[in-house]
Amino acid sequence: MNLSKNYKQLAGKAGFKISRVLHVGTYYDPDIVRDIVLLGKFRGQKAVMKISSWPEGINEIKDILSFFKNNKSKTVTAPKVLSYKPFDGEKSWFISEFVKGTRIIPGSWPNPLSSSAEKEEMAKIYVEYIKNFRFANRPPALIESRDAAFFVKSRFFRWLDLANNSTHPKKDILLPRFDAALKILERGFKNRPLQYVHSHFSNDHIIKSKGKYYLVDFANAGYKPELYELGFVVWNLSFLSCWQSRVGFKRWLKETTDWENVFLKLVAGPLNYKEREFLKLLRLNMLERCIGAILADIAANKTRTENEKKWMLNIYLPLADYYIKKLFR
Ligand SMILES: Nc1ncnc2c1ncn2[C@@H]1O[C@H](COP(=O)(O)OP(=O)(O)OP(=O)(O)O)[C@@H](O)[C@H]1O
Ligand SMILES: [Mg+2]
Repeated sequence: MNLSKNYKQLAGKAGFKISRVLHVGTYYDPDIVRDIVLLGKFRGQKAVMKISSWPEGINEIKDILSFFKNNKSKTVTAPKVLSYKPFDGEKSWFISEFVKGTRIIPGSWPNPLSSSAEKEEMAKIYVEYIKNFRFANRPPALIESRDAAFFVKSRFFRWLDLANNSTHPKKDILLPRFDAALKILERGFKNRPLQYVHSHFSNDHIIKSKGKYYLVDFANAGYKPELYELGFVVWNLSFLSCWQSRVGFKRWLKETTDWENVFLKLVAGPLNYKEREFLKLLRLNMLERCIGAILADIAANKTRTENEKKWMLNIYLPLADYYIKKLFR
């Protein structure tokens, strides 16, 4: 379904009065619109309507409802769902209360760097969230049906395919890193389980309001390697902000290391990991994000400028090398 054409009519039919478009979700290409997020009013209350034309939308509603059923946290929650329509083969939508708030790292746009206090807050909220996200709404998909090594490998090849038509980065700089990273990740994640998680837990998807933390965007919930989102949090901050504020590799490496230290201090213990095991898993996830950044976000992406891509490549190639070296035995 062409959402850009139909969203006004769909909102009207649902009884949602649009005040403005809040966000347009695309898939690596500005022309592939998978969802539209609207701000407006529903039954007299300020609300947000998300209309999705992708099957992920079916699961998003299920996941939010399951989250409410299972979540025992007093601090981590989600915007209340006011109305919804399950996927009908073309689209699905849900309307939730509008939550006015800030981010844990309010300056992340345009500055990806954060204070120790902000990092610590993120780490504590992660622990609280992950302890409460203990459900799975669907059986594993094929690539989710084995161990973490199989999942990561399959995803790598999917990205490789997405990046196929791109001239960035050149084969001779990409492929040796791809090979090395794949070997390390296959070995490191061998026989490690996958865990059903929100998948996009990050600064962009947490609204902080009156002492509570509201998780949004459950559309990508699925099976991921343990601690996957710790790498995701850090990766998410770098895009697009490193380019905007001209943070280069050396500074970003320091920042990444600061994040690792905070996670080690505040997450490993509460989630019952031994330090060494935790650090290894964390770095495997960081390396996975580096390859994801290079293949999917840089090479395959059609929404970013060439300068932006060049900047990010100058961060992510040496960062991949850094983790390859750290993890190589
Ligand atoms: N209930 C809400 N109250 C306030 N803001 C919200 C609410 N729901 C969503 N938002 C805002 O809208 C943004 C986009 O929503 P969401 O992340 O669900 O869309 P998306 O298209 O899936 O995003 P992505 O581009 O990450 O795929 C969120 O990052 C958040 O800032
Ligand atoms: Mg989102």
